[in-house]
Amino acid sequence: MSACERAVPGHFYAVGVGPGSPDLLTLRAHNIIGSVDIVIAPRAERSGESLALQPVQDLLLGRQVIEHVYPMERDEEKTDACWRAIALTVAESCRAGQSVAHLTIGDPLLYSTACYLLLHMAELLPPERIHIVPGISAFQAAAALVGRPLTLQDDRLTLLPATSLAEVERALGHSETVVIYKIGPRAHALVELLKRRNLAGRACMVCYAEQGDKERVIFGLDELPEERVGYMSTVIVPVGRRRWNSEKT
Ligand SMILES: C[S@@+](CC[C@H](N)C(=O)[O-])C[C@H]1O[C@@H](n2cnc3c(N)ncnc32)[C@H](O)[C@@H]1O
Repeated sequence: MSACERAVPGHFYAVGVGPGSPDLLTLRAHNIIGSVDIVIAPRAERSGESLALQPVQDLLLGRQVIEHVYPMERDEEKTDACWRAIALTVAESCRAGQSVAHLTIGDPLLYSTACYLLLHMAELLPPERIHIVPGISAFQAAAALVGRPLTLQDDRLTLLPATSLAEVERALGHSETVVIYKIGPRAHALVELLKRRNLAGRACMVCYAEQGDKERVIFGLDELPEERVGYMSTVIVPVGRRRWNSEKT
């Protein structure tokens, strides 16, 4: 039996659980979560629940579930200390013969808390005991809901957070498609930028993709809805096309 069919005692798994719907969990993630001894789920200090646990509720019976609260502020030292402490606990459990899975929404290598944990785990466990299980990312789920190609022929795709709108503007200048994460309070400023570049009308925002009743797809961002735009929102901006035979610089 391969390591992908059941979690192996003493091994650590960074598992992506996809955007939210249980049927977008990969078979490998399903197998690992359903057989692991300990499930670790990250939870931001401010939020009341771990989003990563939602798609896997049916698999948690018989597992020890530990929710780890992690700091939200941008403090490298505090963040590093927090994940180091969690990594030490995980390594201890693995050395005692237990299998441990750390869950994150989407993919574990894309803007994910798993990245911090993996950096520390690499110093604490041999590489053959560390596994990364990819997940369907939010931008893929969002693009599927929008229903348009992300890239074609020689198109360039840039994915970046809205934390610097200057960087977003730069990306609009050298990409055929720009995908923007971490919108939240920057939504209105982002829309102003897109209007200035004549791109608002064709941009789309997907909020809470694959998260049941909360899911919302907005085609065209000339006017933003009145309600606050939450953190779980992704904007897709189709800027243009870079065809096979076009002049390229
Ligand atoms: C910390 S990053 C996590 C990214 C994730 N690891 C992935 O692979 O997509 C959080 C950002 O991902 C995007 N996101 C995550 N889940 C989403 C969802 N269900 N719907 C829309 N956007 C989502 C939002 O832009 C959010 O600010």
